[in-house]
Amino acid sequence: MQGLESAAGDWDEILTAEHDMALAIFDKMLATDETQTFKRKMLFMKLCHALDKHAHAEEMVVYPALREANEAADADNFESEHGYIKTFIYELSEMGPDAPTWLEKVREFRQLVAEHARMEEEEVFPKFKRDMDEEQNAHITSLVNRDGFWMA
Ligand SMILES: [Fe+2]
Ligand SMILES: [Fe+2]
Repeated sequence: MQGLESAAGDWDEILTAEHDMALAIFDKMLATDETQTFKRKMLFMKLCHALDKHAHAEEMVVYPALREANEAADADNFESEHGYIKTFIYELSEMGPDAPTWLEKVREFRQLVAEHARMEEEEVFPKFKRDMDEEQNAHITSLVNRDGFWMA
């Protein structure tokens, strides 16, 4: 059960660590040039996998729990932004790693993800967590861990 143990911490700490990981992949992508198409492809695949796993945990666990806690507007807004994240993935894969506008597109994409992550980390998740009791916090954490485990 190595996978479960390595994901230690509360649900919000796990999600924050995943945000940081995704942003670090973006930074590596932004440090490439148009001759490094293989590296760009590998980093893009890694990014897609990381974002997919992360979005799954939020959409299957955290956002439904937010709606249950009467924070449906935030959950709906986040879910809509996940749709635009998928749109960037679609556009980048259509464009290909040697396109002259690739870096510009990745930069715009990073900005959306960074702002989305900041809203979750600084505005919505802390407020949500403050209203939880210990038991609920532990429950959401175990669901997020289990969701990550299914997707791994
Ligand atoms: Fe999200
Ligand atoms: Fe997130």
